[in-house]
Amino acid sequence: MAKNKSNTIHGKAAGEKHSKSFSGVHTSRRNFLKSIWGWLGVILSFEFVWMAFSFLSPAKSSSGKKKNFITVGALKNIRKNEVVPVRSGKFYLVRQADGELLALSLKCTHLGCMVVWDPAKKHFVCPCHSSEFAMNGTVLNPPAPRSLDRYPVIVEDGIVKVNIAKPVKRS
Ligand code: FES
Repeated sequence: MAKNKSNTIHGKAAGEKHSKSFSGVHTSRRNFLKSIWGWLGVILSFEFVWMAFSFLSPAKSSSGKKKNFITVGALKNIRKNEVVPVRSGKFYLVRQADGELLALSLKCTHLGCMVVWDPAKKHFVCPCHSSEFAMNGTVLNPPAPRSLDRYPVIVEDGIVKVNIAKPVKRS
């Protein structure tokens, strides 16, 4: 017991001595850590504000607009009654008999499986529940409840481009 007491007393004395001799070091380390945390807080605050701003602001920059467009190719190379799969854009480009261009979403409007173009039947077939769609995307056989979604198509200087930013839903 007495030994413990003396150890405790020694320990306290040693601790006091230690904290006294290194108090300057402790204080400067503490201040250093405080400043690091402070700067981290400032950086995180800026990051949060930037993220909130970019989330809330509409993505309408000219480079953003260009990113939404997928170039399919020259119009003169796309024949009438031809269906071109564009996997990167997740659509089929269809040139109908009258020359009209349609960009049809690959997604079945039933539960979202990828429809496949059947060149023999000349229509789209869904492998999941056998819905079928005409070349222009209208439903031939349910359970698909509505036509395939479309994407806006433009022709610029003879080049076909499709805006994949937002599909247009059809009835
Ligand atoms: S997901 Fe296409 S028919 Fe069901």
